Formats: sequence, C-alpha cells, structure tokens
Amino acid sequence: MAVDEEKMMEFLGRVIGDAGAAVAGLCTSLGDRLGIYAAMAEGGPMTAARLAERTGLQERYLREWLAAQVAGEYVTYDPRTDSYLLPEEHAAVLADPSVPTYAAGFFTMLQAMYGTEDVLMDAFRTGQGVGWEEHSEALFAGTAKFFRPGYAGALVPEWIPAMNGTERKLTAGAEVADVGCGYGWSTMLMARAYPASHFTGFDFHQPSIDRARELAAEQGLSERVGFEVAGAQDFPGDRYDLITFFDCLHDMGDPGGALHHAEQALAPDGACMIVEPNASADVRENANPVGRVVVSASVALCLPAALAQHGPQAMGNHAGEEAMRRLADDAGLHHWKLAAESPVNRVYAAAR
Ligand SMILES: C[S@@+](CC[C@H](N)C(=O)[O-])C[C@H]1O[C@@H](n2cnc3c(N)ncnc32)[C@H](O)[C@@H]1O
Repeated sequence: MAVDEEKMMEFLGRVIGDAGAAVAGLCTSLGDRLGIYAAMAEGGPMTAARLAERTGLQERYLREWLAAQVAGEYVTYDPRTDSYLLPEEHAAVLADPSVPTYAAGFFTMLQAMYGTEDVLMDAFRTGQGVGWEEHSEALFAGTAKFFRPGYAGALVPEWIPAMNGTERKLTAGAEVADVGCGYGWSTMLMARAYPASHFTGFDFHQPSIDRARELAAEQGLSERVGFEVAGAQDFPGDRYDLITFFDCLHDMGDPGGALHHAEQALAPDGACMIVEPNASADVRENANPVGRVVVSASVALCLPAALAQHGPQAMGNHAGEEAMRRLADDAGLHHWKLAAESPVNRVYAAAR
C-alpha cells in the first residue's frame, strides 16, 4: 500500500504540535508555580524588566520564558513598547486558582508523570504496579491543585443538590466520610458549606493526610473536619449519611471491596457519591482533548496505582458508567443514577 504523502505530512505536523505542547507544559508549570502568571494578571502590559521587579525573578530567564509564551500564544507581545500581556481570558485559566476555569494546576503533575517513565518501562515489562506513594510530592500537590477549582465550582452548588435528599441532611447535620480524600479540598468545601455536619477525610497515603490536616487548620476548619489515615476497605464508622469517592475509586485495586465496605458503613438511608473522570469505555469516544488527558493519565498513574494494590481489579480511569454501576450493584448499592456531569467529571449517586 502506497503511503498517502499528504496524510503523513499532516500527521507529522500534529505530532510536532504535540511536541511543542509537551515542552511548553514545563513552561506553564514554571509560570504557575513561580507566580509569573499571577504577577502578569495583576499588572497589565509589562516589559520583562518590570515583570522581574514584580516577581523577584531573573530578567534573562523571564525574557526567554516570555518568548516561549508568545510562541504558544498564551501571551501577546507589543514591539512598540517591548511589553507583554496575559489576556484576561487567559489569566482566568492560568493565574487564579480560585476560579473554576483555572487549569494550570495540572501541569504540576507532569513532573511526577515524566519522572516515572523508567519505572513505567519496567512495569510494562513485568506487569507490576507503581504505587501512588511511589511518586514525588508534585503528584499529590498537582492533583489537589488541578481538581480543587472544579470541585469549588460544582460540588456544593450542583452535585450535592443533585443527590436526592442529601442537601437537606447535610444542612440539618449529617455524618460524612470522604474516601481517598488526598489533600482534602472536597472535604473542606463541604465542611465550609454545611456547618451543622461533621466530615472525615480518609486516605491511605500518610503525607496527603498530614497536608490535609495542615490545610484544615489554616482554613480554621479543624473542629468540623477530621483527616485520618485509612484504607477504603477498612475506614472506621458505621452510620454515614454520605460517603464520597472523588476521583479515586478507579485508582484502587479492589474498588468493589471499597464499595462493599461503604455499603456496610452507610446509615439506613445513606448514599454514596462517586465522582469519576468523564471518559468512555469505548476507546473511540475518548478522541477529544479531555479524553486524551484522562486516558493518558490512566497509563501513567491510575492503572499502575491500582495494579500496585494487588486486588481483584485494575480498572483504569475510563472503565465507564456500566462497569461502575455493576460494581455498586454487586456491593448492594442497587439504586444508581447519573446525578451530574461536567466536561471533566461524571457524578454518580449510589444507594441501597
Ligand atoms: C487521584 S487522587 C484523588 C484525591 C482527591 N480525592 C481529589 O479528588 O483531589 C486518588 C487518591 O486515592 C487515594 N487512594 C487510592 N487507593 C486507596 C485506597 N485503597 N484506600 C484509600 N485511599 C486510596 C490515593 O492516596 C489518592 O490520594
């Protein structure tokens, strides 16, 4: 079969574009972590020298970084004034962690993902897992940073109200477990919104729990939020009105066992909220920007993390709604509904 030259060149162009995005991701992470985007967002058009003054960073490095930002069309350049501008619309995505559109946090995770390439090569050969705890802190911090804005924008205003009767219970005073809570932003968002309720975040990763406790203290929430080291299959408590799993069930080696334990730990009319990535079990349906991010992260993080737990399942993060629904049903959670959806997440409600 003759190669279609035009198609080949078009694909080569795409791959070069991806190479640019892959390298530029490091610059995005630097811009986020060094506060360069934040300084630009507040300051209007500015020269590299002015940006150096505002950030306390070296002008020569900033000039290079700004050139890369202009090449990626994140920043505009005005040659008349030798000044650079981060447009407001871009600032909403890169500079302000408090808005739901902030996405720069993802790039902190890249250091951890790229850093495990050699370990993953071995894993591909042996079939062994790579545990969540084997990664660098950049993964835990980046995960928290990436998911927090989406939770802040939707968890309290949309997702909880979409779970039948749950908002009423949380307002009146309920007991809540947030399983696989990581740094606990989801737990703290709920605690802030429902002061009559009590919340405990559980995670088997001690450093994440330590950080969650620090953050809760900084937020003045330690009274109503506890964070404990515990696995999804043995966390304590037996009368929870709500048990949540934010982007973690698929990372477990025994997600069915975790749901079975949750079913045992629920109050008679309690419910589980299961938040999973918005990706499809049909691999063809993930050929879109979000699908590509999600499924690629599954290769680097989710599947290896689940395999490292040596359980009966290692689902990957795109097993889809039907697989999750079956696990819940087998665990005794027979009532299932898709409660809410965002471009990044699907939110399921499961109850007896
Ligand atoms: C992708 S992170 C999500 C963290 C947090 N829920 C969020 O949405 O930002 C997955 C989390 O699940 C935790 N985890 C994975 N398997 C677990 C298990 N079997 N028991 C408890 N926690 C687990 C990991 O330690 C990690 O913090």
